[in-house]
Amino acid sequence: MKVSIDLDKCAGHARCYATSPDLFDIDDSGYACNAEIDVPPGQESIAAEAAAACPERAIETH
Ligand code: F3S
Repeated sequence: MKVSIDLDKCAGHARCYATSPDLFDIDDSGYACNAEIDVPPGQESIAAEAAAACPERAIETH
């Protein structure tokens, strides 16, 4: 599984990082840093949870 983040949609809510700090990285202002993240086996559900937690709907799993 991969996670894609539309960095243009990201508004710095940092809820992805709050949900899964192992998967997501944010800058000092709370904005997501990486547009593509490889999700290790076993972390699919937390990745989906983080995607659902983004108020901007900037995160997609595929
Ligand atoms: Fe950005 Fe959404 Fe995460 S707004 S910091 S991708 S929760």
